[in-house]
Amino acid sequence: MTSGMGKLSTWRDGLMRRVEGRTPGEIAALTLKTLRHTARGFSPAAARARRADQAFDRRWGTDTGGTMNLSALNVARDRALMGCGYQASNGVALSEAMTAAAIDPARFTFIDYGSGKGRVVMIAAAAGFGRAIGVEFAPELHAVALANADRFAAVGGASRRCEMVLGDAGSYVPPAGPIFAYIYNSFGPVILREVLERLEQRAAAGEEIVAVYVNPQHREAFEASDRWHVLADREDWVLYRPAATPR
Ligand SMILES: C[S@@+](CC[C@H](N)C(=O)[O-])C[C@H]1O[C@@H](n2cnc3c(N)ncnc32)[C@H](O)[C@@H]1O
Repeated sequence: MTSGMGKLSTWRDGLMRRVEGRTPGEIAALTLKTLRHTARGFSPAAARARRADQAFDRRWGTDTGGTMNLSALNVARDRALMGCGYQASNGVALSEAMTAAAIDPARFTFIDYGSGKGRVVMIAAAAGFGRAIGVEFAPELHAVALANADRFAAVGGASRRCEMVLGDAGSYVPPAGPIFAYIYNSFGPVILREVLERLEQRAAAGEEIVAVYVNPQHREAFEASDRWHVLADREDWVLYRPAATPR
């Protein structure tokens, strides 16, 4: 058992690792982010999310719950500062957006940009997408997602295995064919623009693209130009289609 002194020194080492080499401004931003994150943990929405976590994982024997701050994960610091920590989707926005998009999921590749432990990738696979891909840059979360995908396939959660990719969403090159992009406020506007530019290029080349942006805190990345049209706009999510998409 770890002693009180042992716990204190583990906590101190973790803290030193998080602040090492950061400017005072970065430490202040990180402290604010951590305080906000802690406060959110006590909200009614957080209690609902915890119940959803438990229900999914109890049913499938997976591990998709909890929250994780990026400062505690092994990711490049400059990219971490532009990203958001882990918290899983419950699948409600995906199901609503699929209905609004009126697509046949079997024709589409689902891509979750910033997929964490892979819960919504598994939900998409079970919902009938042709392929379901998750892109996650934190190796610790990616390792859990791989184990989850194995477990989900083994217990018959989906007929086709989920594909979990370790990498940065901003440099991920999507496969050919129609794409249903899913972004749950995983990062700020800089990385969001990197993701959207690749999708815009695909659309300009004639590919069919739909994108759902859940907890849409940086809508300007889509809407500052006329490159995306809003197809549906709800309280928690917005559904977009590139202006260049063929009809
Ligand atoms: C709010 S969670 C969303 C998890 C998942 N998409 C879901 O809906 O269940 C954000 C995730 O994005 C990841 N992330 C943040 N920036 C990223 C980047 N540049 N590339 C890949 N993953 C990133 C984080 O590590 C975290 O797992």
